[in-house]
Amino acid sequence: MRHRVSFVGVGHRATRFIDELASSKSADLVGFCDISATRMAAHNRWLVEKHGHPAVATFGADQFEEMIRSTRSNLVVVATVDSHHDEYIVRALKLGCHVVTEKPMTTDEVKCRRILESAQRCPEGRITVAFNYRWAPTNAKVKELLDSGVVGRVKSVNLEWLLDTRHGADYFRRWHSEKLQSGGLLVHKSTHHFDLVNWWTDSIPADVFASGGLRFYGDTNAVARGEGSRTRYPRYTGQDAARGDAFAIDLSANPHFRDLYLAAEPETGYIRDRNVFRPGIDIEDDLSVIVRYRSDVMLTYTLNAFSPREGMRVVFNGDRGRLEYYQFEKSHGTKSESDEGHSPSDNGDSEGRPDTEKTFIRVYPHFGSPYSVAAQAGPGGHWGGDPLMVRHLFGGNGASDALGRVAGHEQGAASILVGAAANQSLVSGRRISLSELVSLKPGARRLSELT
Ligand SMILES: NC(=O)c1ccc[n+]([C@@H]2O[C@H](COP(=O)([O-])OP(=O)(O)OC[C@H]3O[C@@H](n4cnc5c(N)ncnc54)[C@H](O)[C@@H]3O)[C@@H](O)[C@H]2O)c1
Repeated sequence: MRHRVSFVGVGHRATRFIDELASSKSADLVGFCDISATRMAAHNRWLVEKHGHPAVATFGADQFEEMIRSTRSNLVVVATVDSHHDEYIVRALKLGCHVVTEKPMTTDEVKCRRILESAQRCPEGRITVAFNYRWAPTNAKVKELLDSGVVGRVKSVNLEWLLDTRHGADYFRRWHSEKLQSGGLLVHKSTHHFDLVNWWTDSIPADVFASGGLRFYGDTNAVARGEGSRTRYPRYTGQDAARGDAFAIDLSANPHFRDLYLAAEPETGYIRDRNVFRPGIDIEDDLSVIVRYRSDVMLTYTLNAFSPREGMRVVFNGDRGRLEYYQFEKSHGTKSESDEGHSPSDNGDSEGRPDTEKTFIRVYPHFGSPYSVAAQAGPGGHWGGDPLMVRHLFGGNGASDALGRVAGHEQGAASILVGAAANQSLVSGRRISLSELVSLKPGARRLSELT
């Protein structure tokens, strides 16, 4: 069946889906819904200018059902701020639509339960969570290696994710810095990482302990470091005092940001470049989490959002060896303004870089010689994951998914519930069992047993 696709939430991220759909023509793009008419108009202008695609019909948030009916959409892409995903997933399912939702599927356990109940009530609509990291060829290579048993059964995983002071800082300028909107980085960002570990090890998380806090961003931390001067403006664009501040961005200097955000400010009041050292930020920037899985795999995880370098270091300890996988970006000083592109040219594969700055997979068998495995990011966003995922989800026409990369709502839940439990653990100081939050197929042990 050819899809008739409409979007709810057409900010920055939607661009990647819209561009891919408009250029590949693998599905019919038929409608936009958003609280901002300005952002919808910008996307329509780009559709015409970049792709020669006719502008599509636009609808306000209260016209979502009307959009689905009048455009005869059978698939809705949900790409609003995270805290609204549940609302639109449930509304789309009620009308019998399939849904592709951006990660995180939602932001807390209450909304998660709502989605799972709705999926049960409306089985004709399918929910897919757009876990693009699974589609990056480098991450897929690690999945293939682990599935082929190169380290035997994985017993423990250690994953460190670093966000640098350019990309990491950006979370503290935007709506992501409010826990109610994003669930904090443990949900908004770590959902990618928890999902990768769930998928790589084919495991379902069981319980979670977390500690962490806001230790770098925010006014109090800046003042304590003697950087009080950085706190004296509420935002960056148009502020003379912010000139020379390494954390400042200028929305007017980037045409994409100018058209999507600066031009829409009078309409929605959303300020995309708030000072990262302002009061009131209630998310964490430095976190440690321990997860135990139903399969007895253990994960130790850290996330740091104020690092001088960006990337991931993950190791798998198996009963027949160990696999080390690093994927680092160029240092923040040399990267262009981040839009989370992670293109191959960003992945540090250039000549002359030390191994620890490249994509690097090395297998250490017990009592055998260690060996490296080549892995190359593909063209397009997120190490090549974005185009592969979008093509498969919208134009796959039944193409095989041997690695099980398409995730439904239960697998989406298995990822966000780790973050939701970790958020609870931060408050209570307790280890939190996921079954206290949501009952997720109690008899299942493997992620692949979940939808
Ligand atoms: N998979 C990835 O790698 C990746 C990367 C970036 C963002 N994302 C996800 O994509 C989604 C959008 O992120 P973004 O960076 O584009 O943010 P954004 O702020 O640029 O866009 C969000 C859009 O949602 C709209 N919106 C807000 N509230 C709404 C409501 N109640 N009804 C309808 N529309 C509403 C806003 O007006 C805006 O246009 C988020 O869920 C985010 O987590 C995923």
